[in-house]
Parts: sequence; C-alpha cells; structure tokens
Amino acid sequence: RAPGLAVVLVGNDLASEIYVSSKVRTCIELGMRSEEIRMPDTATTAEVLAQVDALNRDPGIDGILVQMPLPKQVDSRAVLLAIDPSKDVDGFHPFNVGNLVGNIPGPRPCTPAGVMELLKRYGIGLKGKRAVVVGRSDIVGKPMAMLLMHEHATVTICHSRTADLAGECRRAEILVAAIGRTAMIEAEHIAEGAVVIDVGINRVTDREEAMRLTGGNAARMAGFDKRGSIVVGDVHPVAMAERASAYTPVPGGVGPLTIAMLMSNTVESAERRLG
Ligand code: GUN
Repeated sequence: RAPGLAVVLVGNDLASEIYVSSKVRTCIELGMRSEEIRMPDTATTAEVLAQVDALNRDPGIDGILVQMPLPKQVDSRAVLLAIDPSKDVDGFHPFNVGNLVGNIPGPRPCTPAGVMELLKRYGIGLKGKRAVVVGRSDIVGKPMAMLLMHEHATVTICHSRTADLAGECRRAEILVAAIGRTAMIEAEHIAEGAVVIDVGINRVTDREEAMRLTGGNAARMAGFDKRGSIVVGDVHPVAMAERASAYTPVPGGVGPLTIAMLMSNTVESAERRLG
C-alpha cells in the first residue's frame, strides 16, 4: 500500500497554511496517501491529544505531523510526547531527539536534514570545517548543530544573547541562519567565500524595504507589486550574493528540501512499519 501521512493543523497561522498545503500537494504528486486534519484555534489540549491518539491507532498512517506553533492554550510538549515515536516524521519526540544526539538511525527534523542533503549533493565537505548556526530552536538550530557535528564540523551555536554575533559569524566557513529575522545577517557577518544557508522565511510588506533588500531586482519587485509582499530570508540577499561562494536563495533554497525530507521520512517510516 502507499505510505500515509497525516498533517494536523490547529488554527490558521498563515505560514503554517503555506507549509501544510505544499506538504499535502507533494503527497498527492508522489502517490502517497495524505490526510489533512484541521482543528479550530480554540481547540484544547485534550482534543488535540484525542486526534493524535486516533492517528497513532490508524494502521494506514505511517507519519504524523502536528504543525508548530500550536495555539498557546495547547500544551505542545504533551502533544509531541503523545505521538507514537515510530510515526514521528518530524523527529521531534524526545525518543527521536535522543536518537539524533546519539547518532542512532531514526527520523531527523526535516529542515536540518534537508540542509545536510543539499550540502552533500553540492559536494560541500564538512570534515574539520568551522560551521556556525545562528538560532537555537528545537526545530532547526539545535538539530542542525548536531547533524553538522556528526559530519565532523566544528560547530558554534549563536543566539540572541551572543556577545559578538558578527565576529562569530565571520569565522564561519559554513554559516546557517535560522533566526526568523528579516535580513539580519549582513555583509559584516559573512566571510569572503563562505557557504551560506538561509533557513529564514520572512514576509516584507513595505515597498521601500523590499527595494532595499532586493537591490531593486526587477523580477522580485514585479512580484511585490503583484502580491503586495515578498518573502525574504534571514540573510541580506545582496550581501549574500556578493560575499558567499555558494548560497541558498529564499524562496526556493531550503524550503523545497524540507518537504522532500518529510516525504523521505514518511517512506522510511512506512518501510519500517511494514517490515
Ligand atoms: N513549523 C515550522 N517548521 C515545522 C516543521 O518542520 N514541522 C512542524 N511540525 N512544524 C513546523
């Protein structure tokens, strides 16, 4: 049978809607079974737990993804703990976080796994390299650092309290930006020739700011005029293009890899579950 992925979306966060619709679309393209469960933003922890429990027991479902962030009245930790670790295609369950830390096979968080796949496919070696990860989230920063370390990079994790962010970043041969702040990484953060991975997805609605960030790029400004906004990453696109030896654009860089790794995790889960 086809692998089955269930995506649970609670509330109507705009970014989450975009993620979820592309996840569902890709499942259909690949001939996988896709189930989308939408719950209102007033849902309680008990209601979300009941939904997770039903999916845990559904034999046709191999992967369960509960889209983060959850509304504030829902206990996210309780929800992540309730997902059957063998169906945890995000790799967010503490059992799978333990597997990641121990370098034991298991599902890896999709965005960091996508970044690793991208580095591998472009032949960018990591052994002995200085890698700097900006951002310490459970979804990207922390697992990203672990995966880079397992490939023998020397890893530094920076965050909002880092004393000399630009100085730390400038030491990076591989720089991963996962902060969630529009174009926060500028030329002063990027060493000449660094490999720059931009994980940020930020919406810019101010036309002047969009002009500044795109360097007046005609195609991108046409997009702004059509939709009233553009999406930019955490790295200033002009600075990145000028200083990096290789970089991932936003949109179109890391995002598609996140979806691809989710599909890969779902197929692997189905194969394991079906023996
Ligand atoms: N929110 C942002 N990225 C992700 C992700 O990869 N998985 C889930 N479940 N929620 C997210």
